[in-house]
Amino acid sequence: MIKKGIILAGGKGTRMSPLTKAVNKQLLPIYDKPLIFYPLSILMLANVKDILIIVNKGQLNQYKKIIPDGKRLGIKITYLEQSKPRGLPDAFVIGEKFIGKNNVAMILGDNFFYGQNLTSKLLENTKLKKGARVVLYKVQKPELFGVAKIDKKNKIISIKEKPKKFLSDLAITGLYFFDNNVVKFAKKLKPSRRGEVEIVDLLNMYKSKKQLSADLIGRGGAWLDTGSIEDFYKTSAFVSAIENRQGFKIACLEEISLNKKWITKKQVIESIKFYGNCDYSTYLKKLVL
Ligand code: TTP
Repeated sequence: MIKKGIILAGGKGTRMSPLTKAVNKQLLPIYDKPLIFYPLSILMLANVKDILIIVNKGQLNQYKKIIPDGKRLGIKITYLEQSKPRGLPDAFVIGEKFIGKNNVAMILGDNFFYGQNLTSKLLENTKLKKGARVVLYKVQKPELFGVAKIDKKNKIISIKEKPKKFLSDLAITGLYFFDNNVVKFAKKLKPSRRGEVEIVDLLNMYKSKKQLSADLIGRGGAWLDTGSIEDFYKTSAFVSAIENRQGFKIACLEEISLNKKWITKKQVIESIKFYGNCDYSTYLKKLVL
């Protein structure tokens, strides 16, 4: 079982400027909570309780104000800084000590997942023992993403970053599962022409060893990337529509922990005090009545 996870929550956030000039993208709101809550909730739903959050150098204090540590949530949170955005696989070099001899899940801090059966899929993927696994999602504009072509058995035939010529309409989402070799492989990567180490190059190392597999999120699921301002508002609208219709919150961290019995109702009351008088606290109050 994969028990360790990394959230990559640094980045320049160029496309979101000027919003990201003073505040990191992952701390901006997706409807009623900071973006970082959503990827964190995904790792928690996957029963990953030992989590490393990688943030930009100089922004640690911003994060600690909202998630000081994992205690209130019954999980363990470690922070490390990235001095500059060297690319996604840099997470495994920065996180080498944290990973130790374990396998690891990684989620990008700006990725949003939602849908029925998602939790069971996540739990299935954490059973990965050897190799690497990516999570794919059909998109209308594959040329904007890293994409994967698969065969009938979901085996990956080829992967390519932002292909100009059509290869497949299955985008590689920002959720990955790796065996322990990822640290060794990530260290071998050389920066690409744009000056970053590339996740596709890392995945290709696994593929050349026939150790890259794929899981597919079907049409009943949602994967939204929140990289641009337009995407940000669309994702907020999605969360608002679901939450206001059902009365359930998406990515309420305390609710996930309480359901998993990682925390007691008393700890939820501590969270209510921490957040203060707000809609999120009103929701938490209903959980402990
Ligand atoms: P990107 O969307 O590639 O980059 P970005 O968030 O800086 O945005 P922009 O392209 O507008 O400048 O990054 C995806 C996620 O990974 C995002 O949450 C930031 C994070 N990231 C890091 O933390 N470190 C890195 O070195 C890179 C490349 C990304």
